[in-house]
Amino acid sequence: MKILHASAEYFPYIKMGGLADMLSSLTKEQAETEEVYVALPLITLMGKEPKWTGKEFPALLPADSKTDSLVVSILRNSRFLEAEESGVKLYFFQSDLFQSLNSIYGHAEEHFRFAMFSYSCYALSQILKVDIFHAHDWHTALSLALQKDSAFPIPSVFTVHNLAYQGDHPYWMTGFLKEEPFRLITSPFDHDGKCNYMKAGILSAAQITTVSPGYRVETLSEPNGFGLSYCLNQRSSDYSGILNGIDTEEWNPEKDKRIFKSYSRENWKEGKLKNKEELYKEIGRPFLPIDVPLIGLIGRLTFQKGFPTFLQAFLNRRHLPHRYVVLGSGDLEMEKTFFYLSDHFPGVFYFYRGYNESLAHKIEAASDFFLMPSLFEPCGLNQMYSHAYGTIPIVSRVGGLRDTVEESILLDFKTGIVFEPNDASSLGYALERAKDLFESTDRETVVKNIMNLDWSWKKRKLEYDGVYQKAIDLNI
Ligand code: ADP
Ligand code: GLC
Repeated sequence: MKILHASAEYFPYIKMGGLADMLSSLTKEQAETEEVYVALPLITLMGKEPKWTGKEFPALLPADSKTDSLVVSILRNSRFLEAEESGVKLYFFQSDLFQSLNSIYGHAEEHFRFAMFSYSCYALSQILKVDIFHAHDWHTALSLALQKDSAFPIPSVFTVHNLAYQGDHPYWMTGFLKEEPFRLITSPFDHDGKCNYMKAGILSAAQITTVSPGYRVETLSEPNGFGLSYCLNQRSSDYSGILNGIDTEEWNPEKDKRIFKSYSRENWKEGKLKNKEELYKEIGRPFLPIDVPLIGLIGRLTFQKGFPTFLQAFLNRRHLPHRYVVLGSGDLEMEKTFFYLSDHFPGVFYFYRGYNESLAHKIEAASDFFLMPSLFEPCGLNQMYSHAYGTIPIVSRVGGLRDTVEESILLDFKTGIVFEPNDASSLGYALERAKDLFESTDRETVVKNIMNLDWSWKKRKLEYDGVYQKAIDLNI
C-alpha cells in the first residue's frame, strides 16, 4: 500500500512539538511493510540537511495549470524535492512561500501559505497515485476538501493533534479559495463567522482520528471541542482515538548518545545518579544534597500546558525537598516568571529558556520525576519518554495522560502519579506523594513497571491500518 502523509512538521527536519515526533516514528514503523511518503514544507532553518535523491515533482496538476492567476503562477514556480530518511520518501515543498522562513509557524499570511501547501499535497497525492492520503492538523486540512471534490478522490484520513489550533480566518482573507485551482465552496467550513480549516478537514475526510481514546471522548463535548464538538459528533462513527506510539530507538536510555551515561533496567539507579550529577554540572547548579527528588518539566509555555498550576503548587509546597529543572519557551510572562524563580531560588529551581533537543534528553535521563500539569493534552509524549527512562511521570488526569499513566493502589500496576487538572492543591498533594514514593522501597517496583511498558508503534500501527481499510471501503 502507498501512503502519503501531509504535515507541517517532521522530526528531525521541522519540529515545534509532538506532531513532528509522532509522524516520524509512525512512518518509520509503517515503512517496514508499506511504501510511505511524507510531504512537508522546505524552510531555511531545518534540523538536518535532507538526503536528496535528485528527483523533482510538480506542485500543480496539469489540469489546473491553464489559468494565469497569481495563485497558479506561484504554484507553477513551486515544486516537491524528493529525499529519503529511514526507508521513508520525503517530499519537500520548495516554494517562495516557505523557503525564506526560519521557523514554520507564527508568520503573516498563514491562511494563504498553508492553503497553497495543502493544494500541493493534494496534487502530489494524485500524481503519485497513492492508496491512502493522510493529513495532519489544520495546516494541511484543506487538502481533504480538495480530495473530496476531486474527480478521482483518494481514500483520506485526517488526524487531529490539537483542537486548540484550528486555522480559522476572516472570510475577507480566504476569497481566493473560490478561485482556481481551489474552486472550493467554503460555506460549510464556516464557524463563528470565519473560514475554519480544521472544520474543513473534519467534514471532508473519509475517516478522522485523534491521538488518544481519552482525548477523543473529551473532544465530543465542550470545552475540549474548542467549539467544534458538534462537528465531531456529526462524524462520531468515523472518528477514532488511537494512542500515539514513540520512537523506541530515539528515546532509549541504553542507546541514547545525547545523555551523559547510558543505562538499562538493571542499572537505572546508578545511571540516573550519574546523569543527575553531570546535568547539575552542565547547568552550573550543584543542587545539594543529590539524593532528593529532581523533577523535570519540558514543554511549550502555552495555556495548554498548565504551568500556572505548577507555579502555585511550587510556592505552596516550599517545604518539600524537590529540585526543579524547567526547559521551554513561549509565553513571555511565563518565561519571566520562570527566570524570576530561577534567580530567587537558585538552590532548587533552574530554568533554561529555548528549544534544546539534547537538553530534553538529558533532563529525561537525570530526573526522578517528570511533571506534566496540562489543562488538556491530546496525547502527550513526554510521559511515555519518561517511562522509557525510568522517570516517574506526575500528570494531570486529562486526554492521553490518563490513558497512559495510572496511579493504581495495586503497586504492580502503578505507572505514575495522577492529579486533577487546573487544581494546585491536588498537584500539591501529588508532589507530597512523590516525596513519599522517592523515599520508599516501592520506587523500585514502580520504576521496574514503567521501564517494562511497551509504547512502541508495533501494535498501534495496526489500528491505523484498520482506519485506512475503512477509508478504502468507503471510497469504493
Ligand atoms: P506538544 O506537541 O503539545 O508540544 P508533546 O508532549 O506531544 O506536546 O510533545 C512535545 C515534544 O516537544 C516532546 O518531544 C518534547 O520533548 C519536545 N519539546 C517541547 N519543548 C521543548 C524544548 N523547549 N526543548 C526541547 N524539546 C522540547
Ligand atoms: C499535539 C498535542 C500533543 C500530542 C502531539 C502529537 O501537539 O498537543 O498532546 O502528543 O500533538 O500527536
